[in-house]
Amino acid sequence: PVPVIMDCDTGVDDALALLFAVRHPGIELRAVTCVAGNTDVDGVVRNTLTVLEQAGAPETPVARGAERPLLEPARPATHVHGTDGMGDLGLPAPARRPAEVDAVTLLRREILASPRPVTLIPTAPLTNIALLLRTHPEVTRNIERIVFMGGAVEVGNATPVAEFNVWHDPEAAAVLLTAGVPITMYGLDVFRQVVVEAEDVRRLRASGDRGARLAGELLAHRPATQGEPPEAEEAGGLGDAGAVCAVADPGGLTTRLLPVEVSLAPGPGRGQTIVDRRPRPGEAEIHHGERERPLIDVALAVDAGRYTRLYLETVGRP
Ligand code: BDR
Ligand code: CA
Repeated sequence: PVPVIMDCDTGVDDALALLFAVRHPGIELRAVTCVAGNTDVDGVVRNTLTVLEQAGAPETPVARGAERPLLEPARPATHVHGTDGMGDLGLPAPARRPAEVDAVTLLRREILASPRPVTLIPTAPLTNIALLLRTHPEVTRNIERIVFMGGAVEVGNATPVAEFNVWHDPEAAAVLLTAGVPITMYGLDVFRQVVVEAEDVRRLRASGDRGARLAGELLAHRPATQGEPPEAEEAGGLGDAGAVCAVADPGGLTTRLLPVEVSLAPGPGRGQTIVDRRPRPGEAEIHHGERERPLIDVALAVDAGRYTRLYLETVGRP
């Protein structure tokens, strides 16, 4: 199995991602770190511990990370993820507490201790990851790849052009993109496409297995502010879980190596991931500055049915 560490802001769809990572035989989930995003960091820690317990992984190390972005105050998305940040499903409080050490310390320790290079999967604002890369750059020698959920080639969600995770901490995202390790950007363009149909959601909710049932409840969750047509009542998006599917089954994702930059200027473009899809000239014609822009493996298309099936086979399995 691929050694994986996730960095989450759990979060309805982060919870779906954790359930999948725990259960997929091709993934060895070594640790989970928490960061402010969908809700405050203490809420994220609580939600993460609860999900891991429900998923049958009560011993996976969990650490508390950044309370706020590098420069700005936190801006939780409780209008999307509920007041507890995870759909207000009335889940029990976790039985244990997080690690004594903070997220950056745990990340460093687990990355360097892994016998094989680790794949990092951030599905949250990139504050912890930026702090890690800046404080302990030696970790990159044991990082295989970073597959992050964030950014958008086309349309944003937090703003017309910016995706929430990058928008919440654009400086941190910029640190990630220039880290010099292989990076896959699982952005909104593919994130939105992977959906579980209502019938399968109902089946999960009726399951005798606790983890599968939780996945069903999470998929059925609707933000209070969002009116849904009745026929779509229970269909739900896999969201962040798609990024973990992309690690378990890379063949389902079509990516292209493209220059990506984060817009850091104040104003309506802040937090946008600017992906350069212009036809690329030969090396000799690349104009000044071009070489400095990092090349990121950008997800441009996803076999949505393949990932939905993979998810249901993995999480729906008792
Ligand atoms: C991202 O923002 C959060 O609300 C989700 O968990 C996901 O990681 C989507 O923009
Ligand atoms: Ca998330």
